[in-house]
Amino acid sequence: MADYLMGIDLGTSGVKAAIYASNGTVIASATETYPLYHPQQGWAEQNPDEWWNATCAAIHKCEQLAKIDSASRLAGIALSGQMHGAVLLDENYRPLRPCIIWADQRCQDECDEITRLVGAETLIELISNPALPGFTAPKLLWARNHEPEIWQKVKKILLPKDYIRFKLTGEVYQEISDAAGMALLDIKSNQWSAALMHILQFNADWFPQLIQSTEIAGYISAAAAAETGLTAGIPIAGGGADNACAAIGAGVVNAGSGLVSIGTSGVVLAAMDRPHIDSILPTPRTHTFTHAAPNMWYMMSVTQAAGLSLRWARDQIYTAEAAAARQRGADIYEMITAEAATVPAGSHGLIFLPYLQGERTPILDSQARGGWIGLTASHSRKHLARAVLEGVAFSQRQGLDIITNSGARIEKMRITGGGARSAVWSEILASILGRPLYPLAAEEGPALGAAILAGVAAQIYPSVQSAVDSVVTLKDPVLPNAEWQERYATMLEIYGSLYPEIRKAVWSLGRLLP
Ligand code: XUL
Repeated sequence: MADYLMGIDLGTSGVKAAIYASNGTVIASATETYPLYHPQQGWAEQNPDEWWNATCAAIHKCEQLAKIDSASRLAGIALSGQMHGAVLLDENYRPLRPCIIWADQRCQDECDEITRLVGAETLIELISNPALPGFTAPKLLWARNHEPEIWQKVKKILLPKDYIRFKLTGEVYQEISDAAGMALLDIKSNQWSAALMHILQFNADWFPQLIQSTEIAGYISAAAAAETGLTAGIPIAGGGADNACAAIGAGVVNAGSGLVSIGTSGVVLAAMDRPHIDSILPTPRTHTFTHAAPNMWYMMSVTQAAGLSLRWARDQIYTAEAAAARQRGADIYEMITAEAATVPAGSHGLIFLPYLQGERTPILDSQARGGWIGLTASHSRKHLARAVLEGVAFSQRQGLDIITNSGARIEKMRITGGGARSAVWSEILASILGRPLYPLAAEEGPALGAAILAGVAAQIYPSVQSAVDSVVTLKDPVLPNAEWQERYATMLEIYGSLYPEIRKAVWSLGRLLP
């Protein structure tokens, strides 16, 4: 009987394909990585062909590990994907250039252009969000302004996972939870904003028909079957944005539930049954997007460089150890976080600002630059490491405060993402966020959320809620450390005061480039 589900998470560092039984048990899982290109300072691009090759390889490997015949066992597939990236396609639906991904910061001028053309208040009325460099619409304006010869060939525009779904099915759709992050969707009605497209002179034909996350968006084509080893005809659901899928995989599908996640970026997210937005208008510091769970929305804060800050520290200050760990097949992050755990809370008065890739919440500043403040000769590498873990957590606390002050409730907060694997980072987060954090019994991330959406589309589950009830189990919470909390309360205030003090200097440094 076909009762297994495949979730595919197209992330920033790689793609994971996983097969689950309907009770959420992992049958097999495989990950393939791909490069992230930084052709200029602040730019971030990926090659859609490399996504596709890696996706085919991950699916192949996963099927081999699962030792199943996909025709008889797989009831459905869905994709979760990194949000906001602009995949520009020509008339044959071939990518015209590398994808400008969510982390790219090149288009502040285009954000200003959108805000000037539309008006900040009108933008909130139309799409409930401001124009930010992470989002898709400003990336499109950048392409129009800077690469007219490419732009004139554009026939369709897709987000990353919708492009990969197109490669799997041959059908072109844009799924709504991801469309919400394009800065072109009226998230209240979940329709494209025709008014905004008109003002920006975007042709409505470039944007595919919208599809629900739990709707069937096509079937594995014969061509894709040949490339992936899957059987043609398996249904593929709309799927969802990676943050929406991570929320589903963590059981965050009803009002009152929330999560903190540490992936490449860091997110605090609250599920909502109405689209609340940050009260600081007209430039909300958090995002409000359509959830992949039907009739729900979520508000989230984004720390651009969360896991990315630790990865950067690994590469720059633990270079030799990271190489040695790779050779031994050991986990370098275990070593770094164990070293950080030997330092007292507060890193002896050292604060790390995690603005290695500009920042969204709360400063909304693509020119931001990070660093350690408070260094003395008695600090050592382990202090730098602990300060990185703490700085990311301070940033997420700022996000949490905005969310809970804006009408969204978070009663029970899950912790998920790669960072949740670290006991010390989890304890730092619980202490700085000031709440118990519930790890998931199975840390499957967005791929499980996508598989749940596939299961609803394939009628394995009657609803997202019932799927989550039967699949997601929480572990005992990580509790705030009472001794650390007092010091962190003081440091949070200092952390919040730092960037406004140095912003001008940081911008001047940025102008010295190259
Ligand atoms: C969310 C965002 C990131 C990406 C990461 O707005 O840009 O969290 O979705 O994949």
